[in-house]
Amino acid sequence: MTDATPSQNSDTASQMLWGFWYPALRSGELRGGKLRRAMLLEVPLAIGRDAAGKPFALRDICPHRAFPLSFGRFDGSAVECAYHGWQFDAHTGQCRHIPSLTADSKLKCERIYAGSFPCEERDGYIWAFMENPDGRAPAGPIPPAPELPKFSASHKIARLTADLPCGVDQAIIGLMDPAHGPFVHQAWWWRSRHSIRDKAKKFEPIENGFRMSPHAPSSNSAPYKILKLLTGEPATTTIDFVLPNQRFEQIRAGKYWLSSRTTVTPVDRNLCRLDFVAAWNILPWIPIVPFIIRVLGPRFIRQDTEVIKKQMLGLKYQDRMMLIDDADRQARWYFELKSALLESRRTGEAMRHPMAELVTLRWRS
Ligand code: FES
Ligand SMILES: [Fe+2]
Repeated sequence: MTDATPSQNSDTASQMLWGFWYPALRSGELRGGKLRRAMLLEVPLAIGRDAAGKPFALRDICPHRAFPLSFGRFDGSAVECAYHGWQFDAHTGQCRHIPSLTADSKLKCERIYAGSFPCEERDGYIWAFMENPDGRAPAGPIPPAPELPKFSASHKIARLTADLPCGVDQAIIGLMDPAHGPFVHQAWWWRSRHSIRDKAKKFEPIENGFRMSPHAPSSNSAPYKILKLLTGEPATTTIDFVLPNQRFEQIRAGKYWLSSRTTVTPVDRNLCRLDFVAAWNILPWIPIVPFIIRVLGPRFIRQDTEVIKKQMLGLKYQDRMMLIDDADRQARWYFELKSALLESRRTGEAMRHPMAELVTLRWRS
């Protein structure tokens, strides 16, 4: 492997990955019998809850003449298009009624379907399984919707969200980039460019991704120092990246834990949504974790959003990037994993993981 290689600019880059669950909305955004609009992978969705509270996701395009179903009425079980009143089952998308048909009409309305996507609610998000853009039912069984790992029944939970004005690849490699911290996230309580030091982290292959093996968190980060001071326990942290778009981080210190997941979801090819959810049982009586998440988290995300906006000014004229060893190796693995997945889907053969074994990466940050 050379020291610096251009990033993949093949078809793999900027391709959105089908056949995965993506978070479409926060649960709290779905109230009453209202239909909400959302967009995932450039597919417009009309999302609602049936009378029993179970969410559903229809393609927001009426099969009759493409009117958005989200303008229509919903009675708790069927969505009625506001243009000509066709009615569709909220969960299956099957057409139930076409008001303009006469009694002797030969048209079989039950053969007509609006696109619909498997839909589940987990950790305060409405997830849709995006098998294909049309909302045709998946051919085989689908995996369960993702769930944030939690390690005790009693815990707190918090969520953050932000729009990132870039394609999914930029957003993801920005998320896993270890070298920007001291420059983009400078703060007296976090780190400065002068606190840069040598890092060596072990990585191992996991299904559809890679894991930064359990290690002591950065000693040059104040929050971890505080954690050690408060719990009296050494902390370890484990970070996983899993296709298509999920980063999990777990911090364990004795009986205390913090588990978080960041997903970067393509809304369309130029816009992503970042969703961060964290659950923890660390010192519930001292609001240190909520402070970090609710006050410092948005600040971090703002800094990342700003840097991405500025980067897009350059990427508009040059979409080639240099991914160097070892600081950008995770970004390379991401592109390689994505190619390997697409290749295995194309050939029907098992996915060839780009990492053969445990690897130690070294960089300064
Ligand atoms: S466009 Fe929906 S019923 Fe005609
Ligand atoms: Fe960042």
